[in-house]
Amino acid sequence: MKRQKINHVIHSDSPIHNLLVKGWVRTRRNSKGFSFIELNDGSCLSNLQVIADKSLENYDEIKCLTTGSAIAVTGKLSESPGKGQKWEVLADFIEIINLAPEDYPLQKKRHSDEFLRTIAHLRPRTNKYGAAFRIRSELSFAIHQFFRNNGFLYVHTPILTGLDCEGAGDLFGVTCLNLENSSKSDSNTDLSRDFFGKRAYLTVSGQLSAEMLALSLGDVYTFGPTFRAENSNTRRHAAEFWMVEPESAFCDLFENMALAENLIVSLTRHVLNNCKEDIALFSRYVDKGLLTRLQSVLSDPFVKITYEEAVSIISKSSHHFEYDLSFGKSLQAEHEKYLTEQYFKRPVIVYQYPKEITPFYMRLNDDNRTVAGMDVLLPIVGEIIGGSQREERLDVLHARMENMGLNLEDYWWYLESRKFGSVPHSGFGLGFERMLMFITGISNIRDVIPFPRTPRNIDF
Ligand code: 4AD
Ligand code: MG
Repeated sequence: MKRQKINHVIHSDSPIHNLLVKGWVRTRRNSKGFSFIELNDGSCLSNLQVIADKSLENYDEIKCLTTGSAIAVTGKLSESPGKGQKWEVLADFIEIINLAPEDYPLQKKRHSDEFLRTIAHLRPRTNKYGAAFRIRSELSFAIHQFFRNNGFLYVHTPILTGLDCEGAGDLFGVTCLNLENSSKSDSNTDLSRDFFGKRAYLTVSGQLSAEMLALSLGDVYTFGPTFRAENSNTRRHAAEFWMVEPESAFCDLFENMALAENLIVSLTRHVLNNCKEDIALFSRYVDKGLLTRLQSVLSDPFVKITYEEAVSIISKSSHHFEYDLSFGKSLQAEHEKYLTEQYFKRPVIVYQYPKEITPFYMRLNDDNRTVAGMDVLLPIVGEIIGGSQREERLDVLHARMENMGLNLEDYWWYLESRKFGSVPHSGFGLGFERMLMFITGISNIRDVIPFPRTPRNIDF
């Protein structure tokens, strides 16, 4: 007999005679001659109620089943007379696959997120984390579906790289040299003996490679892990996170912003339509304002303002900010929060940033002081997307890179793409975990990643 998933079973239209379900016991309660078992198999939030009566051959063991034990149940699915569920299973046979000892840490009380992080190997078995990781799966699927429906090709860009994509530092180095035996001082390490014969890193972004593919295939996207050694111990930075990076040829900044908005709206709609039960849990127990906020993403268009307009709004505001903002300074989290949560009360796209605070590849505007860059800011999570129209003019790009002190030889292939058939093109990166935080209302990035990597934390 084939095992059935509880999410299918509970939506059944009719009784099932030969049913096999397997899962973990959430609770067990005994009453005269019966045991009631709440079974969960991770396929959905709901448990399936299993009724075992005393005529079962191993009833003495069943009536002592502990929370966390694994069992296989064969029986009949029949309409439940009890409240709270449509169906229940009348067990014909219960195989006890593994009996969990009494010190199973997930007993029926509510645990703090901080405690659950210390048992990251078990927390997916709780309602909240099970729901978060199911939504994570569904959101990944929705990303592929969105791009496929819009004619984008899925491409894979390298994770090991010899270049610092953003020119920004924050890189994890990769080596197979024995660090204990080699000199502690960087300059004395003989890189020619290392695997690649030169410095290698984990990628911070697939963008530069994705640009090469967009300039050949038209519309492409990557969706994969990226790594940043930023030592910022905040609730929205992880050292390992996933990024979605579309890149389009023949596409300017405004088309790029429209794509970013469509993507966020489409992902939000997909999750609202396909993860109703899990979303309901988050709006009930994690963030009461969640549904209103998600609905407003679907109904109100995003605000689009230039960086200079943002600076003007913030400097005129009577709100107290810790950091002041003037042309040439980066928006801080508090500024993003003010714009999205207080001033506009919805998502905001800020575009045209000063060239001094942006990477080399963003297209220089005619004013010679700003570039065609944009950030999408969301209430609660802040910056979710960073992107730009790329500099396609070889001479301008060359001059800017030289100006910024980049080693042009390292980028010979990137520059060559501007020599042969260069066209206007644009792209962006969406932080996948931040999107999950927005959709679930979970406020710490550590809780949307099964096994998060953050400063001083690489357990599990
Ligand atoms: O704004 P960023 O740095 O943009 C880029 O990397 C571009 N090369 C992308 C592109 O144009 N193809 O990063 C993009 C997004 C951010 O807006 C944020 O959502 C997320 O990636 N992000 C992080 N998420 C979690 N932890 C971190 N440490 C993150 N750093 C960036
Ligand atoms: Mg950014």
